[in-house]
Amino acid sequence: MAIGVKALPITFVAHAVAIVAAIMVLVWCLGFRGGLAWEDTNKNLIFNGWQKSPRGWVPSGIFPIRGGSSTRSTGDSYKKATKWMTGFNDYVNNGDCAVVADELDSYLDEKVISRMEDFNILSWWKTNANRYPTLARIARDILAIPITTVASESAFNTSGRVLHPVLMLIGLIIIGGEAIMSYKGLNLRKEVKKVIHLVLHAIALILGIIGIYAAFKYHNESAIVNLYSLHSWLGIAVISLYGIQWLYGFVIFFYPGGSTGLRSESLPWHVLFGLFVYILAVANAAIGFLEKLTFLENSGLAKYGSEALLVNFTAVITILYGAFVIFSVASQGPAEDDYSYSAI
Ligand code: HEM
Ligand code: HEM
Repeated sequence: MAIGVKALPITFVAHAVAIVAAIMVLVWCLGFRGGLAWEDTNKNLIFNGWQKSPRGWVPSGIFPIRGGSSTRSTGDSYKKATKWMTGFNDYVNNGDCAVVADELDSYLDEKVISRMEDFNILSWWKTNANRYPTLARIARDILAIPITTVASESAFNTSGRVLHPVLMLIGLIIIGGEAIMSYKGLNLRKEVKKVIHLVLHAIALILGIIGIYAAFKYHNESAIVNLYSLHSWLGIAVISLYGIQWLYGFVIFFYPGGSTGLRSESLPWHVLFGLFVYILAVANAAIGFLEKLTFLENSGLAKYGSEALLVNFTAVITILYGAFVIFSVASQGPAEDDYSYSAI
């Protein structure tokens, strides 16, 4: 099936492209997304300066956390907290609370307005703002929150899940691609290449499984539903097919190994199915980049900003790498590989 192009130069270009892709995804995750967090401790990036305390998420510095307890200290952070609370203390001491209570009581004593078609709640609060100044301000804040169809993923996903793209790209795509190219790029005996091929695929598979687990973990911790997107469905298909492909390859070509007839019958299917799974993985990674960037742009990321360009170019480089892996399969391996597809 080999076309008359030598595989070696193609694999060199592919290795170079792989290095660029790996650097780009790391720069993105480390430089723009706050690092490779397994435990999503950098959720404070999501909530802009909030920290986890025994009482839940609070603005940074409010509850100094000492040895996991909520004991307040007289340290810097408590002073900061006290400063932050000054406004609240003034408010309580000035007796404004009582005013609000009166305001609320008289609001609750109001006669309920009967339902009418053209009732405008905003203009009601505007008209009555003099009578209920505090409640009107609260109502304005609440009513101004737009009803949105943007998934909570978009609303809060400004950090988090940084591990997923890194593991999927460097693991499944790059190491998986190197496993495929090892048959054409290395001038070694067939048996040795077979072991390299299966070990690299095993590493790719394991990193892929951990990467997908990281995505589920992040979703569950952030109360975001699972498996709602095309990307996630294709992702499950990719990882399942990859696992099946690996197991079948291992059992038929390595241990215990099928009969000679079964091996030579299986090999073209192994190559065809292997290429299909790999192409699907590359396409799904591109969808993943697109999806993540869309979430980020929905939550305010500049469309032509440096991060948006970086993510788009990482996807382009990923596709380029995938293409070179496929070219290597279609091209001619080293001379002693003339018995390629002999399924030894
Ligand atoms: C072949 C590689 C990849 C596979 C097999 C894969 C698989 C998956 C799976 C199964 C989920 C669903 C998790 C859940 O429902 O809880 C998911 C989620 C996600 N992945 Fe990937 N992924 C891959 C590459 C990428 C890449 C490179 C990115 C780039 C940023 C990415 C971004 C995302 C995002 C944003 C989500 C959450 C939204 C959603 O569930 O669709 N993925 N991925
Ligand atoms: C998910 C895992 C796997 C994928 C995606 C995959 C994919 C591929 C592809 C695309 C090729 C063609 C390479 C080329 O001709 O340049 C190939 C060849 C081959 N693979 Fe796999 N493979 C996987 C796992 C395995 C395993 C576990 C074995 C067990 C030893 C194996 C044994 C072989 C053999 C013997 C060849 C033939 C090489 C030749 O004769 O030229 N593969 N594989």
